[in-house]
Amino acid sequence: MMHSVVLARRPVGNPVEADFAVNEAQLPEVPSGFFLTRNDFISLDAGFRNWMNEDSGDEVLPAMALNEPVMGLVLAEVIASRHADYAVGDKLMARFAWQTHSLSDGSDFIARLPAQLEFAPSAYMGVLGDTGMSAYFGMTDIAKPTENDCVLISGAGGAVGTIAGQIAKLYGARVVGIVGSQAKADWLCHTLGYDAAVLRSADTDLAGEIRAVCPEGVDVFFDNVGGQTLEAAISNMNHRGRMALCGAISGYGVAPYGPNNLFELVTKELSVEGFMTHFRHERYDEAREQLSTWLREGAIQSPEHRLQGIESVGKAFADLFAGENFGKTIVAL
Ligand SMILES: NC(=O)c1ccc[n+]([C@@H]2O[C@H](COP(=O)([O-])OP(=O)(O)OC[C@H]3O[C@@H](n4cnc5c(N)ncnc54)[C@H](OP(=O)(O)O)[C@@H]3O)[C@@H](O)[C@H]2O)c1
Repeated sequence: MMHSVVLARRPVGNPVEADFAVNEAQLPEVPSGFFLTRNDFISLDAGFRNWMNEDSGDEVLPAMALNEPVMGLVLAEVIASRHADYAVGDKLMARFAWQTHSLSDGSDFIARLPAQLEFAPSAYMGVLGDTGMSAYFGMTDIAKPTENDCVLISGAGGAVGTIAGQIAKLYGARVVGIVGSQAKADWLCHTLGYDAAVLRSADTDLAGEIRAVCPEGVDVFFDNVGGQTLEAAISNMNHRGRMALCGAISGYGVAPYGPNNLFELVTKELSVEGFMTHFRHERYDEAREQLSTWLREGAIQSPEHRLQGIESVGKAFADLFAGENFGKTIVAL
């Protein structure tokens, strides 16, 4: 049988478990030109919240339909094929829906994985997958940290943030993370090598808190959150600082807050660059190779927030927005 997580209703604000339901169906026949995969892991990625609202479709994806499988990223293995380019046993990281099996004609966004996986398969969804590569491209292409820099990272305890911080440490920077709980702050500093953390909450003056922890200002800001967090970071940036914009989770599916201090980009001569990892598709091997080297050497860790079973997928997705995850959120099927 094949199980699918469907969008049972459109989330209002942050998604909750009850927005999703699990359906069961017979495994499909494989028509000519298609292949069937068994999906071993589902990666939970906050960005997919953007396509859950009605009329939210754009050039990347159409708006998700009610009672249809939810689009996501999965680690898959081909189990039947009538497609010339895909053979039984091929391992893929693919933009497939949250399902135990997927039927594809190969037109989906698919990255092939090596035939022999050196690391635990789930690592190819996290540190060696989309989020780890986002940390890699954002840090090494845009942020370019040095030992003279104070690097500030928002969403620091999440999938991207944990890897981004460890990469910045490898380049010798002082690294400070913004997180939502004291437990996560302690974990970042004691386990992942962050130098300090700033706690965010609805009633703190975030700009003031950053200033207290980064008294000499911020040279590099790696942003996963956007909105008020971005505004607070801008006001702490040093002259000619660099900002790598990876995501804006605070504005997904809700009316986003716009920073009111953008003129500081001018007065401080800041460099600001956003990036989408899938546009660097042709450099995935390079990114995976460097991240693999660091993993092999024990220079970086790959923390996971792992849940088990297709019925946990909705909760796992909601956890991202509730800040429950320490590291990459993943469901093993
Ligand atoms: N550009 C790209 O190609 C690319 C690729 C992958 C991911 N991304 C982006 O990278 C970011 C991280 O993605 P992820 O899926 O891996 O999630 P994640 O970082 O694993 O988890 C999200 C974390 O963000 C924090 N957060 C949640 N809601 C927030 C809010 N309203 N305000 C402030 N902080 C909030 C929570 O931590 P605390 O409660 O501890 O703060 C949560 O644990 C997302 O914005 C995502 O869209 C971009």
